Amino acid sequence: MSKLWTPSNGEGYADVIMGLQHGDEGKGRFVDNLAADYDWVARYNGGANAGHTVEANGITLALHQIPSGVNHPGKKLYIGAQCVVNIVKLLQEIRQVEAAGLSVRDRLYISSQASVIQPSHIIEDEQQTKDSVGTTGNGIGQGYAAQGQRVATGGRRLDVRMGELLSDTEAAFSMIRINLQMAADQYELKDERGNKLDINLLMNEMRIAFEAIKNNIDCDPMRLTNEIRRGAKVLMEGAQAWGLDNTFGVTPNVTGSNVGVAAAFLSTGVPVDFKRQAFGVAKLTPSRVGYGPFVTELGGQRSEVYCMQEAGKLHTKKWEAEHYEGQQDELFASDDDFYVGVATRMDGGEYGASTARPRRMGDFDAQFLRYGIGLNGLNKLFLTKGDKLSIFDKRKKPAIRMATGYTLNAREIDYVPTTDADLRKTQPVYTEYESTNTDISDVRDAKDLPKQVTAYLRAIQEQTGCDILEMGVGPEREQKVSFKADDL
Ligand code: IMP
Repeated sequence: MSKLWTPSNGEGYADVIMGLQHGDEGKGRFVDNLAADYDWVARYNGGANAGHTVEANGITLALHQIPSGVNHPGKKLYIGAQCVVNIVKLLQEIRQVEAAGLSVRDRLYISSQASVIQPSHIIEDEQQTKDSVGTTGNGIGQGYAAQGQRVATGGRRLDVRMGELLSDTEAAFSMIRINLQMAADQYELKDERGNKLDINLLMNEMRIAFEAIKNNIDCDPMRLTNEIRRGAKVLMEGAQAWGLDNTFGVTPNVTGSNVGVAAAFLSTGVPVDFKRQAFGVAKLTPSRVGYGPFVTELGGQRSEVYCMQEAGKLHTKKWEAEHYEGQQDELFASDDDFYVGVATRMDGGEYGASTARPRRMGDFDAQFLRYGIGLNGLNKLFLTKGDKLSIFDKRKKPAIRMATGYTLNAREIDYVPTTDADLRKTQPVYTEYESTNTDISDVRDAKDLPKQVTAYLRAIQEQTGCDILEMGVGPEREQKVSFKADDL
């Protein structure tokens, strides 16, 4: 037998890709492209809270838990041990993908150590955290809390792993049922008709989903490690983003999981020695959904309150389109950053894909990027929304702004404060760059970019210490510009 610690044969390795802001950076398109060069794509954190769209055979699929590489037929897909899996939603996704003519069940591996998102977690999220934190309502935090807490008073088991569904099915379902009953009783839940919540209905849904996906539960924790030793190339795909990291984000407005490079290796069980490189993804017009500090937010706390009014359901895409119809240029040129934010959101279509919640918009923040880049050891960047650089020319003072530093209590700081109170007091120090109103959505070659855009990208490289590999310049996958070493 070869030594267990033997590194890979040199051909196999793992790369990581993660979002660097507060989610919705548009990572999916890069994972999709990169996937062609790997054998496996592994999702390493979160659950149905993530969202990405994938084009398959001309059909747009809205996926949450299935890794983005799904539209590359030969690639294997892995859901890591630190994911929290909603099997009912997973089955819906699998059916969507199959309806688009792609197979999934023959190549999807779900770690047996991943936790099951139970109906009780979703109920508790709805009742406890959905409105106060602005969560996606998928029971994510509760799923992770159950792992940590393990049992409740009286020894009631709170956490159930995917492998337990397989190895001790009846006991596992009975625990899930008891947890559901307790939550339904505690919150006196009723269905739409005002009757007591039908526990059997929810449990049956889970049973059906389990039967459909049980062959995809993978009980070998060394799966990816052994694959890499044999020469496989693995792309580890993060969900959410650095600003929402459960440890390094600002509590309580974070997600339930760790989202960085270290989490990728923990969740897949792959030894860190197998890391080759890690990529960060950032949007040139950053956004955030849910509550929480956002230093460069256009309109500051007013924007946060406005966007989150009625849990994000009031100022939707439709509402803003009706209310501000034809006024976009005026809004862009406003003295009031709040309206610049509204115009930026409308122009960029920055609303939640499934919830239509308005995304809070901000200016590009190199100081914040340095935080994620530094703590995750990144040196390569993908950028999205390059075509939106032209909107800065519509501002009252035409210039592309970038936060290059912060002040806290009127003193310059070169770190990102770690508490809500401090981060809300933190002010951005902006550097301004020359803007251009040139539409670059048709540019495909770096040499054809306007000099103002090139200069701005060069500044981002200087500010972050990373090479920019590629920039999206429109929503279509082919709308992108790639950069070689001497392009910038
Ligand atoms: P949770 O992950 O559903 O618990 O939500 C916690 C916070 O993370 C909320 O502010 C959510 O809006 C945010 N969040 C979770 N997933 C995503 C995502 O995929 N994109 C953007 N924000 C997200």
